[in-house]
Amino acid sequence: MNLISVTDEEELSRTAAEILFAKIKSADRLVFGLPTGNTPLGMYRYLSKYSNEYKQSYQHVYTVNLDEYAGSETYHNYMEKHFFQNIDIPSEHTHLPNGKADNLEDECVRYEGLISKLGGIDVQVLGIGENGHIGFNEPGTNFDARTHVVKLTPSTLQANAKYFTNEEQPTEAITMGIGTILESKEILLLAAGERKARAVMELLKGSLNEEIPATALTMHPNVTVLADQGARMLL
Ligand code: GLP
Repeated sequence: MNLISVTDEEELSRTAAEILFAKIKSADRLVFGLPTGNTPLGMYRYLSKYSNEYKQSYQHVYTVNLDEYAGSETYHNYMEKHFFQNIDIPSEHTHLPNGKADNLEDECVRYEGLISKLGGIDVQVLGIGENGHIGFNEPGTNFDARTHVVKLTPSTLQANAKYFTNEEQPTEAITMGIGTILESKEILLLAAGERKARAVMELLKGSLNEEIPATALTMHPNVTVLADQGARMLL
């Protein structure tokens, strides 16, 4: 596992965007797995800015997001607002699980099929939850799991409550499974701030622990962790 150490969230955002932008410039076709949350906001801001400054097209880029709340379009709206509306990516290239599907189990199967049809994920970008969750794979999730419906833990609900001012916060979500995430060719995990220090320490210890979902990444041959000073506090 590679560790890239940066000072703060600003440097983390710029570095993550530079890594992805280099790939966008050089590849003929790319499938990105994308996260939401507070951490990647700066990365999306830089990617949007670079697209504009360097007149870089995103028409050859496809995206599949990690997760979405059940009965909600929270992450759809987030992605539109912070990224998709700023670049020229065709709308039929951007994908998120449909949290409003009538049958969420069927939606999980559809989403897995979609990822396969795209030929898999070239680069999966991840954030990390305070309890070590990735996507919405909460502690105790089987490391083989595919896209599935999850019940969110009180700690995750509390950490993400700030995103719900006008709408009641859903307690369930659809998430790519750890098995799905591990099939990505390359993984870039972003961690910023002291709140993530314990999860980062557990991840970099290098031993598997189902109670800390991110430790599954130990099994993947091409993972880069990009962490700021706060997130490295316990190393
Ligand atoms: C949510 C998302 C995760 C994200 C995590 C951390 O639970 N489903 O994908 O990594 O929050 O978010 P933040 O970056 O806001 O700390």
